[in-house]
Amino acid sequence: MALERTFSIVKPDAVAKNFIGSIYQRFESAGLKIVASKMVHLSREQAEGFYAEHSERPFFAALVEFMTSGPIMVQVLEGENAVLANREIMGATNPADAARGTLRADYANSIDENAVHGSDALASAEREIAYFFTAEEICPRTR
Ligand code: PPS
Repeated sequence: MALERTFSIVKPDAVAKNFIGSIYQRFESAGLKIVASKMVHLSREQAEGFYAEHSERPFFAALVEFMTSGPIMVQVLEGENAVLANREIMGATNPADAARGTLRADYANSIDENAVHGSDALASAEREIAYFFTAEEICPRTR
């Protein structure tokens, strides 16, 4: 088992529906610790930069539009195998395919507005954490 950090977003749809606390509770119940957290309202430039790898995808404009439509919560989660653990907590990208009891099954309505984001690998987690947080904003948890 490896202690990892992963990057997570509570997306505008879930923030608007007041699901922040319910989603954070899922992370904590699964043993993931929140070591950094803040609310931000992305600019177009920030959203385009964050999703740059998808810039050629047909849904890119809609994704940027959605992610700038309201405030989001961004957080760093720490725990054993945190990247994979968070992917399992979130469920499949399309809520129609998400397993019962996952965040997307419970809190998302469509693939366009799917409640949460989580890094898909350790390398992307490092890049995404650095996109939103300075080292000083991350608080190591010693207990
Ligand atoms: S891939 O191929 O695995 O990288 O793609 P995927 O992870 O499925 O999707 C990348 C991000 O785009 C979002 N997405 C969409 N947005 C709008 N419309 C459609 N059809 C759509 N399909 C995928 C998806 O939620 C991913 O965003 P994040 O923030 O990573 O969850």
